[in-house]
Amino acid sequence: MASVFGVGIATVDIINSVESYPDEDAEVRASTQHVSRGGNVCNTLTVLSQLKHQCYWSGVTCRDSDTHFILDDLKKNQIDYRYAQHLDSGKVPTSYITLNRLNGSRTIVHYRDLPELSYQFFKMQKIPKCDWFHFEAREISDTQKMISHIKNIYPKATISVEIEKERKGLEDIFGFADLYLFSKAYALYSGFDNPLKFLSDQKLNSPDADLTCTWGEKGAVALLADGTIIESSAFPPTHIVDTLGAGDTFNAGIIHARLSELDWQQTLSFACQLAGKKCGQMGFENLAAS
Ligand code: FRU
Repeated sequence: MASVFGVGIATVDIINSVESYPDEDAEVRASTQHVSRGGNVCNTLTVLSQLKHQCYWSGVTCRDSDTHFILDDLKKNQIDYRYAQHLDSGKVPTSYITLNRLNGSRTIVHYRDLPELSYQFFKMQKIPKCDWFHFEAREISDTQKMISHIKNIYPKATISVEIEKERKGLEDIFGFADLYLFSKAYALYSGFDNPLKFLSDQKLNSPDADLTCTWGEKGAVALLADGTIIESSAFPPTHIVDTLGAGDTFNAGIIHARLSELDWQQTLSFACQLAGKKCGQMGFENLAAS
């Protein structure tokens, strides 16, 4: 068992399943509705906790009723949130998600009225010594300072950063962490239609880091610090049920496999298998069970 500290957002996800994706201005009925706690890093920690790692989360909540729901769920998943910040006002991030039962696609409308976790708050905490620190690239300047702080106090810890979408000043996050986990959406946004070409380009920003990029039904690619290229196919389930958080599950798979000292080929393949398993079921329950 290793220890993992994650920094990112916690959300309330309101997930409506529909038989097919609606046209604009249509009125359709959802076949089911689930309300669950989400947020990329929290989803990743949920899976890592199932894989028996000791997990900590830091992010921001506030005094609204949804916060209880979020914290209860983190507790249920044995994720320690004592290093989170609790503000007096605001609205915790809420995602209104339309899940298309035809293909498992998830369309997210996200609302929040809450600041991001600040470096000011983070540096005042007595952050525990962990084996791994995982960050969502959100407010870049503060995230970069948090990473430098961790490198300073725990130089042996591994640091990973998830790059899911474009952010203001994103270029400043590169060159600090050991591992960058990129999404297909970000690669496409950056003008690349091929994960290896994208990672080769990213290598210029972070030559000493390992890099991964997921590519949906095509699997994933890693470009390691020493220049080695690793590829894995996807492991799609027979029926795709729910792709919400598939990338977060992939990230958990990578972190777990590296902590378990699997080699990179095994690591990438394990992460793709875990993400595939997630796509075959609703939510994140029992993903660690074989
Ligand atoms: C899935 C997810 C959801 C959340 C949204 C936030 O990856 O973390 O749980 O609502 O993305 O962007």
